[in-house]
Amino acid sequence: MAVSTISSTIRDRAVLPKRIVLTGFMGAGKSTLGALLAQRLGWTFVDLDEEIVRAQQRSIADIFTSDGEAVFRELERVALARALQQEKIVLALGGGAIETEANRQLLGEDRPTLLLYLEAPLDELMARCEQQMLKKNAARRPVLEKRSELAERFRRRRPLYESAHWTVHTTGRNPEEIVAAVLAQWKQTQWIESTENG
Ligand code: S3P
Repeated sequence: MAVSTISSTIRDRAVLPKRIVLTGFMGAGKSTLGALLAQRLGWTFVDLDEEIVRAQQRSIADIFTSDGEAVFRELERVALARALQQEKIVLALGGGAIETEANRQLLGEDRPTLLLYLEAPLDELMARCEQQMLKKNAARRPVLEKRSELAERFRRRRPLYESAHWTVHTTGRNPEEIVAAVLAQWKQTQWIESTENG
């Protein structure tokens, strides 16, 4: 099964999600798969990093260099709170957004948001990032540049990623196959319409 676990929260309530949020480490495919999934659902794709860049009028690497990671995380939190007010969106988080407790609270608040973890082993993620960096105009990833900290960051984040509602194994599958598996799971799930606002 490409889409494995559904957490008890979703299984018990099975409330039709108003948005899908993609999480996972750098190189997991959050932006590529998010755009494809949004297209298939007829929803809007939102990339959290791009929202920050647009609001700040500077690159993520510039924010890290001038102001440091803590400032970036605060901008990320504000952008997430704003993005989650929208419905019918597929939202790609940055790989570190899940580490901020306030973000996890926002994602877990009582509003129907389906959190998907795009899973792959660290060596494969790094290989994918290397490939992406070869592309013209590829955005610099300051966290990727701190090589010595990567394994530790991955280890720290993994249980947080794994608390997502669905875990999607991406190894050996192309984007079309992964999105097809997610949509199949989406159709199989017995969603109930929510009467709550959120
Ligand atoms: C980061 C991942 C990046 C971006 C920032 C920090 C991280 O997003 O948010 O450079 O801490 O892992 P991607 O996961 O889309 O590369």
